[in-house]
Amino acid sequence: MELFDVYPLYDVTPVSAEACEVIDDKGNTFLDLYGGHGVISIGHSHESYVKALSDQIGKIGFYSNSIKNPLQEDLVEKLGELSQCQNYNLFLCNSGAEANENALKMASFHTGKKKIIAFEKSFHGRTSAAVAVTDNEKIKAPLNTQHETVFLPLNDVVALESELKKDDAAAVIIEGIQGVGGLSQGSTAFFRSLEALCKKYGALLILDEIQSGFGRSGKFFSFQYHGIQPDIISMAKGMGNGFPVGGILISDEIQASYGMLGTTFGGNHLACAAVLSVLRVMDQESLMENVKMINKHFLDRIREVEQVKSVKGKGLMLGTSFDFKVAELRKRLIYDGKIFTGGSSDPYLLRILPPLCVTTQQIDHFIEALKRVLKSMETNQETI
Ligand SMILES: Cc1ncc(COP(=O)(O)O)c(C=O)c1O
Repeated sequence: MELFDVYPLYDVTPVSAEACEVIDDKGNTFLDLYGGHGVISIGHSHESYVKALSDQIGKIGFYSNSIKNPLQEDLVEKLGELSQCQNYNLFLCNSGAEANENALKMASFHTGKKKIIAFEKSFHGRTSAAVAVTDNEKIKAPLNTQHETVFLPLNDVVALESELKKDDAAAVIIEGIQGVGGLSQGSTAFFRSLEALCKKYGALLILDEIQSGFGRSGKFFSFQYHGIQPDIISMAKGMGNGFPVGGILISDEIQASYGMLGTTFGGNHLACAAVLSVLRVMDQESLMENVKMINKHFLDRIREVEQVKSVKGKGLMLGTSFDFKVAELRKRLIYDGKIFTGGSSDPYLLRILPPLCVTTQQIDHFIEALKRVLKSMETNQETI
């Protein structure tokens, strides 16, 4: 048997990791400015996270959702407090796609409608409804084309209202900040119109905070920069710091009923212990403050790199644009600079999604390595 070959791989084999560093099987240390696709939030192998998970698995790791699980109650309380989303109810699942799948299903149950409005360059996951609202035909099988979806340009209020006016939309789904699509985002004016128009025409507003949530933008959820209240918020990635967990926050104006949503693994004891540990560390180590401070430092220092044409994003969800495709630069940063960065569907954009505990010294190290790698690419020499 072999692995089903769907991932092109970099030739690096991590065997351990700590905070923002990853160590490979040859003893090389890499600076992790990608957090394994924006997943590592409080840092790799955080001591209290390791202890929380180890202690929990020693007691009980899993039982089904048909028994009481006080960890879920603790999670509701702590998450409500830190996110300031007390007027929502929590449904737990296992991944980002699953969170959006449930969000879209909820919207359809609630409104009795099935059309979904999404945005150009969106990415919402690979399950059936989630991939249908993802703006990438290449990852849709014929099976996924049964959904009714309309894609609109971001920030186009006129197009949005003319679509909502038809009165057949169950929901509008939008990323707080686009991730895979290349860090574009709606303006505050657009998000406010979106909220008002959804209310006016009876469609639910789903905020996909799977990548931009859990403190990555400098606020708990990135939509909180715009002063709006979505009907449903989807989350995953940084939520578990690597433990596979996702969830949706559902406005308490939406009624639940038994059997409406369900899952075997979602909300299990280990997943709850992971998320509770993430929330505690975020709070105790003021990680959202660190995100804002590091963002400022990054923006100050990246100005020194003349090849960078612009910087997109918020907090520690950042993209730097170049006037050349960045695939080779990413490779050189990994192999020569020993730094992980990310790409996106915009080939000119280098994505930076470090753990939220990254330090100013680590950003300085990146800037110097970036300058060296860029210089060596210009002169076509071996780097460093
Ligand atoms: C904004 C957004 N939504 C949904 C997903 C899907 O999450 P998952 O890969 O956990 O299914 C992703 C993953 O990259 C994402 O960035």
